[in-house]
Amino acid sequence: MASSEELHKRRGAAVARGVGSTISSYVDHAGGGTITDVEGRQWIDFAAGIAVANVGNSAPRVVEAVKAQVERFTHTCFMVAPYESYVAVCEQLNAITPGEHEKRSALFNSGAEAVENAVKIARHATGRPAVVVFDHAYHGRTNLTMALTAKNMPYKHRFGPFAGEIYRVPMSYPLRDGGLSGAEAAARAIEMVEKQVGAENVAALLIEPIQGEGGFVVPAPGFLPALREWATAAGVVFVADEIQTGFCRTGQWFACEHEQVVPDLITLAKGIAGGLPLAAVTGRAELMDAVHVGGLGGTYGGNPIACAAALASIETMRKLDLTGAAQRIGTTMAARLRTLAERDPRVAEVRGRGAMLAVELVQPGTLVPDPAAAAAISAACHAAGLLTLTCGTYGNVLRFLPPLVISDEELARGLDILDAAFG
Ligand SMILES: Cc1ncc(COP(=O)(O)O)c(C=O)c1O
Repeated sequence: MASSEELHKRRGAAVARGVGSTISSYVDHAGGGTITDVEGRQWIDFAAGIAVANVGNSAPRVVEAVKAQVERFTHTCFMVAPYESYVAVCEQLNAITPGEHEKRSALFNSGAEAVENAVKIARHATGRPAVVVFDHAYHGRTNLTMALTAKNMPYKHRFGPFAGEIYRVPMSYPLRDGGLSGAEAAARAIEMVEKQVGAENVAALLIEPIQGEGGFVVPAPGFLPALREWATAAGVVFVADEIQTGFCRTGQWFACEHEQVVPDLITLAKGIAGGLPLAAVTGRAELMDAVHVGGLGGTYGGNPIACAAALASIETMRKLDLTGAAQRIGTTMAARLRTLAERDPRVAEVRGRGAMLAVELVQPGTLVPDPAAAAAISAACHAAGLLTLTCGTYGNVLRFLPPLVISDEELARGLDILDAAFG
């Protein structure tokens, strides 16, 4: 087998430079909370492939279901010759997402594609053009989703011009917005929309209930419910982007549930199918069914192998009680991170929910972001066998997203490495 060094050399000559990687070692296999490279070196996994491997890599039921499906058929295209597993995934999503109303779902391939389709559906159903998004938001890398995403580097730089009719308003960011309450932060955003856009022109308000790439920003309590209430009154479609927060990650099936917020549409991807590419929009039947026949779809959307994996993943989440697991992981991690924060003045805040936690690093005694510290601590973690990710508008947030099947022993070892890396 080729070494990581050889593979890295081949990569340089074959793979576009614009596609980056966090580490330069090449994976041989992964499972539980551990990734093993081609040299046999191991990393405790605090990334889960960016919140995808919630049920773990090669989860037994997923492997079994995928094998069985591959032997039956691999692709007919649901738009040409439909099959049961697509319908079954939609039934599951309609049942597990927040709200008791009648729902419909449509399946796609990536998170960005799901977000694009949520915008299409909201515009079609309302007949309005504008979409409201937030500071620090991340919604993908396609043309429309770049426009919806806040951060320039690396996501948007020199890739414009971008799609129009996107309006950005301030997020509730308790560490950095001077202690505004959720209600105050929502009123600030709503006033901006009403004055600058006009509520009657707004098709959708699109928000991550906890921001992912933007820095694991948890809005102040009351922010999401206030926006939900305004959207209902204004006839605006409330779209929750739960692509990173979904599928048990935060200790609930979906992060909206922490504040009993029921979105009109919800975008899903990442954790949905145990690592296979699948995404979805689930929402109110009257909005989803407003679109004419043939208006939604795509060649691979709801591919049968991905659907088989999704059904097996959802079954695994239920069977292993992965919402409970995320809560337990969160309790253990948060305790260790708070101890670290007490000791290290660079930690301005420990935040997140369940197994979606982060620390924001600043220059001690200030709120000046310290991206260099985040990069250095990350590098120390990688060198010592812990895979962590950074995020945030300022690049100064270390985020932790272990697979929800990580063992107590792996979790403890990972936290020990993190502790030492801070030193
Ligand atoms: C909240 C959110 N929305 C959308 C996306 C885009 O998903 P994908 O990379 O599958 O297109 C991501 C990916 O990180 C995300 O975190």
